Amino acid sequence: MAIERIVDTSVNDDGSEEQIIEVTLRPQNFSEYIGQDRLKKNLQLSIDAAKKRREPIDHVLLYGPPGLGKTTMATVIANEMGTRIRVTAGPAIERAGDLASILTNLQDGDILFIDEIHRLSRTVEEVLYAAMEDYKLDIVIGKGPAARSVRLDLPRFTVIGATTRTGSLAAPLRDRFGHLYRHEFYSPEEIAQIITRSAKILESTIHPEAATLLSGRARLTPRIANRLLKRVRDYADVNGDGIIDTAITTKALELLEIDTMGLDPADRNMLTKMIDTYGMNPVGLTTIAALTGDEATTIEDFYEPFLLQVGFIERTPRGRRVTPRAYKHLGKQLDTTNE
Ligand code: ADE
Repeated sequence: MAIERIVDTSVNDDGSEEQIIEVTLRPQNFSEYIGQDRLKKNLQLSIDAAKKRREPIDHVLLYGPPGLGKTTMATVIANEMGTRIRVTAGPAIERAGDLASILTNLQDGDILFIDEIHRLSRTVEEVLYAAMEDYKLDIVIGKGPAARSVRLDLPRFTVIGATTRTGSLAAPLRDRFGHLYRHEFYSPEEIAQIITRSAKILESTIHPEAATLLSGRARLTPRIANRLLKRVRDYADVNGDGIIDTAITTKALELLEIDTMGLDPADRNMLTKMIDTYGMNPVGLTTIAALTGDEATTIEDFYEPFLLQVGFIERTPRGRRVTPRAYKHLGKQLDTTNE
């Protein structure tokens, strides 16, 4: 991403303090996991049934915008099942051989978590769905005329895949998942509860009104809520006595340039450019990307889900369109002349 954004929903997996804190704040089981009630209820039932039958649970596909707790949910499932979890990501499995080595190292009942599963190559995808189907792995040994195919038995394992888009997944792979669950945006109340829980773990004092204020700016996304909390906590430590009240929170949010809807300068820049150039006419994704200097996938995965959720943009067959609500929020005059 071009500039560092506090509202960025991607993860740093660089072993940084930020990543360590994110891991510390993660709930470990269903009772600690706030929100996603429908999903939790369904998964709990499948887990209970699988445990009773002493079988692994069926493969699970979790989808939805980034930052809503898909990875966390995978670790919770492993904890609830009492199994080991091996974590990897689509782009990390470059060749079929990489996947073969992961699969042959699994034990019975293990969970294999594949983040960004939509980014697996087609060849790797094919090997994976065959393995998911019948726990067998066909590998080719040798090259040319001496090459021969060997079939290996694999342990009974469960794949938990996470993706921001199910549409990019090949149908045969998608069909191998017994459970497909969408992570929804959280309610402001759930986000406030998550902030309060995280503050407690970080041993910070936060006033309930400050938690509410912060939750209104967190784009209904736990990862952003926790990130904002950490920044406000730093601000309170430096400019106050460490206690997070509404005054401190307001000042910290001003410094971070997060507005009342949780939009940051990059969102406002995108919306403003769309309005100034195209008004309320639909704009194609690649054109928006050109306007902001981002990749089209960044617009789709990071800017857009929340802006759609709050009704600041809408999808039309001819592209994305800014809504009157966004005009109002940005203090822009509605111009209907170029409709
Ligand atoms: N931290 C991040 N996501 C969470 C969630 N859903 N519940 C509790 N704590 C969280």
